[in-house]
Amino acid sequence: MKDLTPPKDTLDPIEIASIDEIRALQLSRLKWSLRHAYDNVPFYRDRFNAAGVHPDDLNDLGDLAKFPFTVKSDLRDNYPFGLFAVPREQILRIHASSGTTGKPTVVGYTAKDIDDWAHLVARSMRASGTRPGDVVHVAYGYGLFTGGLGAHYGAEKLGCTVVPVSGGMTARQVTLITDFQPSTIMVTPSYMLNILEEFHRVGLDPRESSLDVGIFGAEPWTNAMRSEVENAFDMHAVDIYGLSEVMGPGVANECVETKDGLHIWEDFFYPEIIDPATGEPVADGEKGELVFTTLTKEGLPMIRYRTRDLTRLMPGTARSMRRMEKITGRSDDMIILRGVNVFPTQIEEQLLQTGGLAPHFQIELYRAGRMDAMRVYVEATPTAADEASRAAAARMLSKRIKDAIGISCEIEVGDPGTVARSQGKAVRVIDNRPKE
Ligand code: DLL
Repeated sequence: MKDLTPPKDTLDPIEIASIDEIRALQLSRLKWSLRHAYDNVPFYRDRFNAAGVHPDDLNDLGDLAKFPFTVKSDLRDNYPFGLFAVPREQILRIHASSGTTGKPTVVGYTAKDIDDWAHLVARSMRASGTRPGDVVHVAYGYGLFTGGLGAHYGAEKLGCTVVPVSGGMTARQVTLITDFQPSTIMVTPSYMLNILEEFHRVGLDPRESSLDVGIFGAEPWTNAMRSEVENAFDMHAVDIYGLSEVMGPGVANECVETKDGLHIWEDFFYPEIIDPATGEPVADGEKGELVFTTLTKEGLPMIRYRTRDLTRLMPGTARSMRRMEKITGRSDDMIILRGVNVFPTQIEEQLLQTGGLAPHFQIELYRAGRMDAMRVYVEATPTAADEASRAAAARMLSKRIKDAIGISCEIEVGDPGTVARSQGKAVRVIDNRPKE
């Protein structure tokens, strides 16, 4: 793999500024953001008043803990534009979640918000090893989802040639990668596996492709998956994180030279980790739920937004700003099986270490008598698809899961190609337990 470390003089000075400088900037921006929310969004004014706090009560960053949280249902309750802090005419762009359950959550951006977002995606791409002048293949979905357009504006801002493919039509993805020779691909890690399969299907060696770096996010993925994709393509695999409510992709990103967790772009977002049960902030280094406060957003300021994502904060390394550990999962995706907490990423980790199995999987939860049970659907690789190899692989995976996670589950090894393939964010869990 190439050394893609960006030269120091291409970084934004704040990326390598002193902690004192970063904290001072955060404090002045946080005061502005609380005031902006309070003055312009009735929802925030009512919430702050009910909690007996006022923007003037913030004297240091620790005072933020006095302010109330914002949660996803607050966006739904104020559907569609109720949390906007500027007149609708100043909103240049809308994005929204798919809204599979209930109303979608709608987010809006002013011209400055769009520009800041593009700046942060460009910064994220530079940290990943992409350079001005590179060709960038964007296979995140375009549309209401923030992935495609977020990546697109960032790549343009960095000065790249953007190929706005969007998701789907996997054969065409491979043709365009072969013909246009991108250095960078931006896509969900699960869809990258789909693209990898297509390389093999048409008889192309992925290691011979032009790709030097993949910027993967929008869903949890493991270091085991990083190795899998890096070896398959002979390229760097770097993690990008974000969420629509806070901005979109580019809230945090790994640095290609260290790949040791994602640096949070703290000049734009103030992170906290809280105990999800009590809501109390925990110290850096302790695991809990990630909470963000936006520091500059005009259109939709977010004060103490509970992401439901579980991680911990660590000190800076390649950049001064704090890192977050790769996300284990969302608290909503946590499976509690006979008293043991399980995340799909833990299954992914074990699967990728088991020979004879492809890296695709889906988990089914069902009721067996009075107990909850779990079945993991995986598939044999084409070279290990005979009965004996499948049985051995199933036994091995089941033992690994038992040893590492402490749960017993059934493993079903299907024919190659039988596990549902992702076109964007993978659906990892199918819950067939009777509704209470
Ligand atoms: O997924 C934004 C995004 C697009 C990020 C492209 C990165 C790349 P939402 O659809 O609002 O926005 O979903 C946000 O996805 O709360 C996490 O649960 C999950 N997520 C996003 N990035 C990562 C990541 C986009 N790198 C939700 N690792 C978040 C783990 C991630 N989970």
